[in-house]
Amino acid sequence: MTGGKNLHWPLMKNNVSGADLAALVDFLQQDDPILTQSSEVQAFEREWSAWLGVKHSVFVNSGSSANLLTISALREHYGPGEIIVPTLTWASDIASVIQCGFKPVFVDVDRRTLGMDSAQVIGKITPQTKAVFLTHVLGYNALRRSLVDELQARGIPLIEDVCESYGATFEGRKLGTFGLLADFSFYYAHHLTTVEGGMISTNDSTLYETLRMLRSHGMVRESTSDELRQSYAESYPDLNPDFIFAFPAYNVRSTEINAVLGRSQIKRLDDNNRLRSENLTLFLNHLDSNKYQTDFATAGSCNYAFTLVLKRPDPAFCQKVIRVLHDHGVEFRRGTAGGGNQLRQPYLRRLLGEPDLSRFPIVEHVHFYGFYIGNYPGLEQEKILTLCSLLNDVPL
Ligand SMILES: Cc1ncc(COP(=O)(O)O)c(C=O)c1O
Repeated sequence: MTGGKNLHWPLMKNNVSGADLAALVDFLQQDDPILTQSSEVQAFEREWSAWLGVKHSVFVNSGSSANLLTISALREHYGPGEIIVPTLTWASDIASVIQCGFKPVFVDVDRRTLGMDSAQVIGKITPQTKAVFLTHVLGYNALRRSLVDELQARGIPLIEDVCESYGATFEGRKLGTFGLLADFSFYYAHHLTTVEGGMISTNDSTLYETLRMLRSHGMVRESTSDELRQSYAESYPDLNPDFIFAFPAYNVRSTEINAVLGRSQIKRLDDNNRLRSENLTLFLNHLDSNKYQTDFATAGSCNYAFTLVLKRPDPAFCQKVIRVLHDHGVEFRRGTAGGGNQLRQPYLRRLLGEPDLSRFPIVEHVHFYGFYIGNYPGLEQEKILTLCSLLNDVPL
């Protein structure tokens, strides 16, 4: 320690409450409860759809599984081609694109939202573009009206990764309701947790049926459509209707246990999100804007982690900031979402060769000079103010 108190500030705290555990214990104390995917999962999907404002949701075992199923469904219905993706996102977003046989086309991010730069996305559209797979990074809305309109006019599906941003809005509407498909993660550190878990939401009934089948081995009996099940049974009379596999697929189901936690948590999601937004405003309002970026596009944001991005690419200052965070017990991650620039990761370098990083200056700055710090509902305001003073006191 260089002096000063330990703030004991983890990335996330108490995200599973006593009430959640009590709901779980009640559920488990039933006589012989069904634990595999059943009515609790269905109820959680219905409640999630109602909270978000969409027709359909499919609960899976992680946000990464949500990514994989989303892009698999897109491949089944739209065929191969290119997908425009951000450089700042989670690895499984890009992995799903590659694993499903699409070519990822990268764009740099917007400094104020950390999401894809809309003008660059529009500039990268070609006749091969099958989708734009956008990530709303750490609670900030990445949508622009110009992008939404352009994609609609050209008939290009928008897919939203809302794993880090649920509850955030654009033009007063929740993120995840603009895209053809939207993915969510319920990992422990996120706005709502089922410990591990994820959701895919959509208003498209055909894609919904495909997602349900993809989630469970590709099995046709998972579809809720009598017509679809019947048509497969008639087309394949040599098969047992209970065992018709429509797609080469996966098993990414979750369990009743996880759904019970999700149902308990969703009741306080909006209240928790309000507290998180107040925390972020306090943090950004008290940071020294000569040293740190404070002009993030916070309108409609809903953040579970504070973004700390240094104003200038100053390695010595950066080391001093890291020292202060370490010395005062403040847990952090470098590079913000997903560890920074995906193009630097070995899995992509192996595939694409050495990238021309000079084409991606914004993500490069965030990669080396960006951090995130936990923002949980019980975070004390004095701690936020203390941290701001400590950070502001770091000499340039
Ligand atoms: C933007 C984004 N997408 C996808 C994921 C994957 O979610 P999971 O960890 O539940 O697999 C994450 C994980 O944090 C994420 O931040």
